[in-house]
Amino acid sequence: MDFLELAKTRYSVREYEEKKVEKEKLYKILEAARVAPSAVNNQPYRLIVVESEEGLAKIEEGARLYNAPLAIIVCKVTEEAWCRKYDGKNHGDIDVSIVTDHMMMEATDLGLGTLWICWFKPEVIRKNFQIPEGIEPVNILAVGYAKDGKKGDVNRHETMRKKPEEIVKYETF
Ligand SMILES: Cc1cc2nc3c(=O)[nH]c(=O)nc-3n(C[C@H](O)[C@H](O)[C@H](O)COP(=O)(O)O)c2cc1C
Repeated sequence: MDFLELAKTRYSVREYEEKKVEKEKLYKILEAARVAPSAVNNQPYRLIVVESEEGLAKIEEGARLYNAPLAIIVCKVTEEAWCRKYDGKNHGDIDVSIVTDHMMMEATDLGLGTLWICWFKPEVIRKNFQIPEGIEPVNILAVGYAKDGKKGDVNRHETMRKKPEEIVKYETF
């Protein structure tokens, strides 16, 4: 499957089978994170892998996981992130989101479903996972097998996304 086909296959899975994610697949997902690019290669992220029932319940106190058997909390180490000297812009959120996307697409390639979650209570996640000051949980990636093997409709983007001419400009804004 080429990349565009893979990207079109991915969809936000909000119903999961109980089946656990195999360790080899988890390691591949984590390796996809590790090789992600980051601004000046600072790699300002830490990943908390949560698979235990107890851990997943701790996430559920602050986020909706839709019964996914695996969740990865993607954290930003703010002071490790590159800041552009011209305006001070901190690039950490960009870096952690590339990592999240790498994991999401690797999981898709492995036949897994995913859900990218930002709608969570940061303070609950911080407290439940002892995340220290200076480190911010930015994204949670839920991973598991989609219920009944449900596949995304590869043609849905025709109606669910803006048209090319609405988002792309050539040569000037
Ligand atoms: C940065 C980001 C945050 C998101 N947060 C949530 C979330 O908290 N809960 C949720 O159900 N979906 C969340 N989503 C999934 C989006 O709603 C979804 O990607 C979008 O509606 C497009 O649908 P699709 O992923 O099926 O193509 C998030 C996606 C992104 C990229």
